[in-house]
Amino acid sequence: MLSAQSREIVTATLPVVREHVVAIATRFYGRMLGENPELLNVFNRGNQASGEQRKALAGSVVAYAAHLVGQGQEIPLDAVISRIAHKHVSLGITPEQYTIVGRYLMGAVKEVLGEAVTPEVAAAWDEVYWLFAVKLIAIETRMYQDLHADPGRIYAPWVVTGRVEEAEDAVSLLLAPESGPVPHHLAGQYVTVALEMADGVRQGRQYTVSRAAGHEALRITVRRVRGTDGTPDGEVSTLLTTTTKVGDQVWVTPPVGDIALAEGAGPVVLASAGIGVTPMMAMLEHLAERSPDRPVAFVHADRSPARHALAQEAQRLGGRLESFTSTLFYEQDAPEGARAGLVDPDAVPAYPDADFYLCGPLPFMRDVRTSLLRRGVDTGRIRFEVFGSDLWTSGADRLPVPEQAAS
Ligand SMILES: Cc1cc2nc3c(=O)[nH]c(=O)nc-3n(C[C@H](O)[C@H](O)[C@H](O)COP(=O)(O)OP(=O)(O)OC[C@H]3O[C@@H](n4cnc5c(N)ncnc54)[C@H](O)[C@@H]3O)c2cc1C
Ligand code: HEM
Repeated sequence: MLSAQSREIVTATLPVVREHVVAIATRFYGRMLGENPELLNVFNRGNQASGEQRKALAGSVVAYAAHLVGQGQEIPLDAVISRIAHKHVSLGITPEQYTIVGRYLMGAVKEVLGEAVTPEVAAAWDEVYWLFAVKLIAIETRMYQDLHADPGRIYAPWVVTGRVEEAEDAVSLLLAPESGPVPHHLAGQYVTVALEMADGVRQGRQYTVSRAAGHEALRITVRRVRGTDGTPDGEVSTLLTTTTKVGDQVWVTPPVGDIALAEGAGPVVLASAGIGVTPMMAMLEHLAERSPDRPVAFVHADRSPARHALAQEAQRLGGRLESFTSTLFYEQDAPEGARAGLVDPDAVPAYPDADFYLCGPLPFMRDVRTSLLRRGVDTGRIRFEVFGSDLWTSGADRLPVPEQAAS
């Protein structure tokens, strides 16, 4: 809980801090990465280049402050904190780094807001930052313990043992640790895969494991991100889909992720678009192996059948389930049996007792979720994975329309 004095100060200064959050975030990253170049290996520089994504860390502190003083939107705070912690653990964020981030964040607040930041104001915001930090550090420490992982050495050398061209611009890579067993993962979880870029900087990106646990290698399925309207091609996905070959070494972190298939007996509804199909594939295989009696509805939207990765495998796995329906939407070249055009959100069955998993571009997930809620599905039954930095500052449960998502 925030102290009474800090509460008053934070309430009074919240509007001005919120108004300047982009400037604060820009100053914060500029200085911190400039003076601590080792952190260039930790942060995603694709995210840095896009303003909205850059806002995630500072913006979340502002949203947390609003929550502490009772001015927040009704955000599902535990879910949000869990999501951040999983992402941090996947990147090996250490408790010591919180001190660095806190220092530069407060430095940026002072630089941007100038004299308005009296020592009392600085102390109040420092308290907000550390309340948030302590919560995250506690969860992350527990997760590292459970994983038997040292956050400072989270990456291990793995080797590419297989490569399959799955669809237009989509490649599966089979990955196995150079030493030791393949770690267990829950269906829906992801790993971070890091490669060294041409300029020597290491860049890691998250990739969902696209099949169930129990294989001799983890499989990821990567969609090549192509630049549009002058933006560059995605750095890591381009290398993984065009250059990486069997026998290559890559750096991988243990599987984590809080949007994993929950065990249960009721129906499961999987709704995906584009490369958002990857968690659904792991869930389908898990269900086929462990709970073939659970009814499953699979709804998938893609630009065309040629771009639909793992399409045949989904049908094969569905065939092993006692009750399986598949509804496919293609914007182009829809074959017989599939539907033409964009997804109709009302085609996603709204079984009241089902668990729902959504993954795809944010507008897709927002439309499906809105439709499910309208048809009476309980909000707590719907889980979604965002293939980017979740723009939760505008309300994680509201699914705002953002720039970046799976495509
Ligand atoms: C939990 C999770 C699971 C995921 N699972 C999968 C998965 O299973 N399969 C999959 O394919 N992906 C998945 N992703 C997405 C993946 O992590 C990467 O984000 C994706 O591959 C793009 O990375 P990249 O390095 O190729 O692109 P980046 O280099 O990071 O670029 C990202 C975007 O930023 C733009 N950009 C870069 N620099 C600039 C600039 N200077 N100006 C303007 N724009 C710029 C690029 O054009 C691109 O559109 C997942 C993400 C998360 C968070
Ligand atoms: C209280 C402190 C912190 C808060 C509130 C915070 C918040 C966030 C949020 C909201 C995200 C986006 C999560 C998502 O994908 O939805 C994120 C991602 C990330 N955070 Fe933190 N964070 C904190 C501390 C740190 C620290 C100490 C580091 C390490 C230097 C760090 C490094 C990262 C990185 C590397 C990402 C991934 C996105 C990217 O690379 O741009 N964070 N954090």
